[in-house]
Amino acid sequence: MAKLALFGGEKAVSKSASAYAAPIVAPEAYAKVERLLRAGNISLAPEVAQFEKKFADYMGVSHVIGATNGTATLHMALVAAGVGPGDEVIVPSFTYWATVAPMVSLGAVPVFADVDLSSHLMTAETIVAKITPKTKAIIVVHTWGTPCDMDSILALATKFNIPVIEDASHAHGATYKGKKAGAMADIGCYSLQGSKLMPAGEGGMFATNNPKYYERAMAVGHYERLHTLPEDSPYRKYALTGFGFKYRPNPMAMVLADTALDHLDQWNEVRNRLGRLLDEQLSEFACIEPQTVPEGANRVYAYHYMRYLPEKLGGLSIGSFLKALSAEGVSCGVCGYGRLHQAPLFNGENPFGHGTYRSDASLPVTELLARTAFFAAPRFETATESDVLEYAEAYGKVIENADLLLEVEQEKAVKVEAASGRSINLV
Ligand SMILES: Cc1ncc(COP(=O)(O)O)c(C=O)c1O
Repeated sequence: MAKLALFGGEKAVSKSASAYAAPIVAPEAYAKVERLLRAGNISLAPEVAQFEKKFADYMGVSHVIGATNGTATLHMALVAAGVGPGDEVIVPSFTYWATVAPMVSLGAVPVFADVDLSSHLMTAETIVAKITPKTKAIIVVHTWGTPCDMDSILALATKFNIPVIEDASHAHGATYKGKKAGAMADIGCYSLQGSKLMPAGEGGMFATNNPKYYERAMAVGHYERLHTLPEDSPYRKYALTGFGFKYRPNPMAMVLADTALDHLDQWNEVRNRLGRLLDEQLSEFACIEPQTVPEGANRVYAYHYMRYLPEKLGGLSIGSFLKALSAEGVSCGVCGYGRLHQAPLFNGENPFGHGTYRSDASLPVTELLARTAFFAAPRFETATESDVLEYAEAYGKVIENADLLLEVEQEKAVKVEAASGRSINLV
């Protein structure tokens, strides 16, 4: 049995995660940004509309609005869907805070739904339990890059006549039954933040096929464009002010995203092929469960999370497991999702004066997943198959040595602190 790196053995993984990363800024983007800078064209540049058109064509939607960030697009989506004080919006807790928080200033009430243990996603079954006469919208998240099972979710939403907003911030280029993630429901929201698959630095895209949602979303944060709406649009009259927010994106950011889109499919192909290879390699181990993908979905490996089943390793804590992997050179870490239903912003006084939230949500699967999901590997973008096999070897080595790790854990009579990996805050 090979000696664990944690105990002085040789590391199984020879390279650091950064060695597998594609350039965040494509080489040709520099000249494009420089052109904007030299022209002094750093606010209202035509590059924004050009990118919106290209993004709309790629995603297969008719209307797209660029924005300052993904959080802004979720706010635009809620206003577009007519969400207001007292309205309930069904959301996962197993997500980044920005999926949920924009409704707080609107006085809407987040209603947390559970997720499925193996896919990490909300499903029609977890959503239906939360529908009430006050439900005004449902926000689904294609978490880690895996599309939700949209057929059953959309059938449910149609039955109850509730609009569905897709938070596709992790899922640029993922598909479900031939449609792009973010283009399947009423509204799609995308983050273009620096850690995403199409990084703009900071940026977001709002997408819809519904012209009414488009016009209303534009009124939220793009007053300067309201005069371009059709003569009969009820939002033209707000052209002087909009609805009070300014979500216009920086054109330099849009140019970065535009060049990233040129490379998206190519990078996704590599990430997905090598991500799948690692899943296959690890499928023999009962103590780890790769994220499952709904039928008909083609995921993208934006974030490679799995679930750890300590009971299959004699109760070895996730902290010891990840610490040993980390010592082998595996880029890994604990998961920060699944705690929003306990966060002060959604429990207690609404800071904008909209009463008090009482989140008594019982989310047993979310809470289990929050304790057992883990960041399992970096994006393999410039890696080779042998790099992925090193990762699989490291997992095998740690699992093979589980008894030894357990002994150490029991000797110390304390659980080893979880190894720190990529901060979920960046996700
Ligand atoms: C699932 C999810 N939703 C929304 C956001 C918010 O996007 P942004 O950071 O661009 O505001 C992010 C990422 O940051 C995210 O991961």
